[in-house]
Amino acid sequence: MMPTDAPFTVRRMRADELGLIRAWATQEGWNPGVHDAAAFYAADPQGFFVAELAGDPAACISCVAYDDEFGFLGQYIVRPDARGRGYGVRTWAAGMAHLGIRNVGLDGVLDQQANYERSGFRFAHQHIRHEGDGGGSVPSGVVPLSTVPFDQVVAYDRTCFPAERPVFLRRWVTLPDSAAFGVVGDGGLRGYGVIRRSVDGHKVGPLFADDRPVAERLLQALWATASGSRVCIDVPDATTNPMAEGLARMFGTRELFRTARMYTRGIPAVASSRVFGITTMELG
Ligand SMILES: CC(C)(COP(=O)(O)OP(=O)(O)OC[C@H]1O[C@@H](n2cnc3c(N)ncnc32)[C@H](O)[C@@H]1OP(=O)(O)O)[C@@H](O)C(=O)NCCC(=O)NCCS
Repeated sequence: MMPTDAPFTVRRMRADELGLIRAWATQEGWNPGVHDAAAFYAADPQGFFVAELAGDPAACISCVAYDDEFGFLGQYIVRPDARGRGYGVRTWAAGMAHLGIRNVGLDGVLDQQANYERSGFRFAHQHIRHEGDGGGSVPSGVVPLSTVPFDQVVAYDRTCFPAERPVFLRRWVTLPDSAAFGVVGDGGLRGYGVIRRSVDGHKVGPLFADDRPVAERLLQALWATASGSRVCIDVPDATTNPMAEGLARMFGTRELFRTARMYTRGIPAVASSRVFGITTMELG
């Protein structure tokens, strides 16, 4: 074991170091997206931190500032052999300092919920990771999202997410090994969804739609692109969208685990009835 007085520092991560987070998140069983890092980093290149103990990476955290008012904390991991010695809390403090007075959200594993309450976060609702097997066919009335003007995607997304996030979305809807679909009505976009490769299968996120029939068509299209692969989706619990979990179950999914969505300064106003699957647990 490393002596407890070994030099410990927290610094910003470079883009070429993000593979470390993916490797550690994989070890935790979180099944991260294979290509997520570039889009994540673009959202806030100043928001990724690595802690070094005696010069070796020992902890990481992301604290992404979307705008002056909203940020999201995730990927809080300490190397297993360095846990329980205060390095987590020090890494957390460095990340949170970057977010200042913003309202900060997170999706915490349930056994850390009491800790996050002590750090000023308040419980909002749960997210439930569901997993099933991809397949089926793309239904009618669904179009590739690339055919929808990008500013419509950004505007629709903003009704479902606490901040406008064009820089992130530009990359997110065009990730390698991904597919994105929309449903368009007379008044413009009525919903959109993205599926991407993950370490073990595929992940859907987000799945935002005006109503359940639109969400179902989108999910059918996304599911069809992942035939023969495991697919997961992180759905809000019934207190925020009573339709979401039932829709996932229609695709033969089962629950894997839950997280507690928490905020430091109250629950942001979004159209939660449109959220059938969140974008990610890492960046909100
Ligand atoms: C959660 C984790 C990052 C904590 O790191 P750590 O280095 O073991 O934590 P520390 O030694 O700094 O913790 C010191 C104390 O503060 C608590 N603590 C840790 N993070 C805290 C936080 N953000 N706020 C308040 N308390 C915290 C710890 O529980 C511990 O309390 P105790 O002394 O009563 O046991 C680490 O256990 C880990 O990597 N776990 C696996 C990944 C994971 O679940 N991450 C959280 C995802 S939401």
